[in-house]
Amino acid sequence: MEVVIGVADDLAVLAAETIEAQLRRRPESVLGLATGSSPLKVYEELIRRHRETGLSFSRARGFLLDEYVGLPAEHPQRYRRVIAEKLVDHLDWPADQVVGPDGLAESLPRACTEYEEAIAEAGGVDIQLLGIGSDGHIAFNEPMSSLTSRTRVKSLTRQTRQDNARFFGGNPALVPGHCLTQGLGTITEARHLILLATGSEKTEAVHQLVEGPVSARWPATIMQHHPHVTVLVDEGAASHL
Ligand code: GLP
Repeated sequence: MEVVIGVADDLAVLAAETIEAQLRRRPESVLGLATGSSPLKVYEELIRRHRETGLSFSRARGFLLDEYVGLPAEHPQRYRRVIAEKLVDHLDWPADQVVGPDGLAESLPRACTEYEEAIAEAGGVDIQLLGIGSDGHIAFNEPMSSLTSRTRVKSLTRQTRQDNARFFGGNPALVPGHCLTQGLGTITEARHLILLATGSEKTEAVHQLVEGPVSARWPATIMQHHPHVTVLVDEGAASHL
């Protein structure tokens, strides 16, 4: 596990450089995309590079980590819509080449299986971007998730609904209670994991991720078993390392 401590802007450049190198090496690469605030600067940097250097996404594929269950298609916090707004719509990336688990599917378990199949058919994820929850969750794999889990339906903890309430007018009751999420087993099959964390509310989660025992209590610790992990953190998030 490589840990880089820096300021947020520099960390975003580092992540974007790694993605750019991957796309230039193999334009049909498969990128794993995260929502939440942590990757936003990376997306801004990728858009800048697309505009200024012609970095192309036209042959790439993208897979989202997770999705809320039941948010209507036009809801501004639906992750498919968020990723379109923050990234895809600003690039030459055909919208149908970026997908997420379908939180509106009639059969959610079937949607989960189909999502796993789609990732496998694409050849697996080359680079997976990740944020981390203050309780150590990645995607929506909350504490005590199975370390070998696959894409499935999960309920969100009170802590996560509280954390994400800022995207729903500050009201935790408006945050959906359920989601579809790639499992820890799914995520750790990606060939390179890049996790970004900034701010003091992530300090304990980052401490556990890097230095804690591997345990479902802090789901991100499973990344310690992965051969290629880059953790990009600012001073606030790194202050207990
Ligand atoms: C949500 C997302 C995660 C994300 C986490 C942290 O729960 N499902 O993928 O990593 O929030 O969010 P943020 O980056 O906004 O702190």
